[in-house]
Amino acid sequence: MQRPSPLAVYPGSFDPIHMGHVDIIDRAAQIFPHVIVGILENTSKDALFTPAERLDMISQLYAGRPEIEVRCFSGLLVRFLTEVNATIIIRGMRAVSDFEYEFQMALMNRRLSPSAETVFLTPKEEYTYLSSRLVKEVVALGGDVSGLVPEPVRAHLEARYRKATHPPTR
Ligand code: PNS
Repeated sequence: MQRPSPLAVYPGSFDPIHMGHVDIIDRAAQIFPHVIVGILENTSKDALFTPAERLDMISQLYAGRPEIEVRCFSGLLVRFLTEVNATIIIRGMRAVSDFEYEFQMALMNRRLSPSAETVFLTPKEEYTYLSSRLVKEVVALGGDVSGLVPEPVRAHLEARYRKATHPPTR
């Protein structure tokens, strides 16, 4: 008897999504028939984009890709997994520096829900240094992030920072 294919959730803050994330989503979609990108609705004041804005941006990137679903979640990741009937957690592992945090999260999630299995994927080498934090910093300081984030995301980033540095005058 064939086992049903497990559903996979790729959770993260995605503030904003960058090409390293996109690369991991593509890889996950080659392994699992359905991948849910789970955007954490954190209430952090440091977030540049609201969860609704992030949902909108990422949904637009994957319009026409029914195998990739984009949703927001709050609270425990393992509860979200249960809600969407998934057992696999996808995480990207860029470098050794990611290992400790990821290892702790994987074990805690398994402790909270023994059926939760974390699968680590590595992005293309050219994206291993990328992080949302660095992308925001570069744009905030007027640098160019073309090729590091999807084009529509770059436009949103630039508009957001332009608005912050040049508030509209009356
Ligand atoms: O992109 P990030 O910020 O590294 O993603 C972190 C994320 C969203 C995967 C993690 O913070 C998370 O799962 N938060 C939900 C709350 C939770 O379940 N905490 C216990 C996990 S061990």
